[in-house]
Amino acid sequence: MQTEKKISRNRFFKILGSILIFPFFYAWISSVQKHKKTQAGNRELIYPLDLSAGVHFEDQIIIIKETGKFTILSSRCTHLGCKINKFENNQLICPCHGSAFDIEGSCVKGPAGKPLQRHSYSIDSENRKLIVHLS
Ligand code: FES
Repeated sequence: MQTEKKISRNRFFKILGSILIFPFFYAWISSVQKHKKTQAGNRELIYPLDLSAGVHFEDQIIIIKETGKFTILSSRCTHLGCKINKFENNQLICPCHGSAFDIEGSCVKGPAGKPLQRHSYSIDSENRKLIVHLS
């Protein structure tokens, strides 16, 4: 006599859901590890130290890597807060109203009148990490 095991539809979807949720859970855990709060309450962003030279647009910041130095700027335009996402003719350009900033963050074209906020950073050479300190 052969016994047939049936899985109910509810149980099937629970199992399937458990399998499908794993990649999202893993991605969430990874992002939590990338954004770390210090004991002082300031946040840190962690990036690999071996970023290629040039301008890197991240979610909240712009990382400019030149030989032997990083410049970390806020990606929020000082005019009305749009996210700066373009680098052209050696300038960072805001897509909303066209303000332009040099790679040190100084405003070179309005309507924004203030420089971009700079963030400090430290280097964890043992773990090959760039640690950006958000204030
Ligand atoms: S928000 Fe950037 S120029 Fe207006």
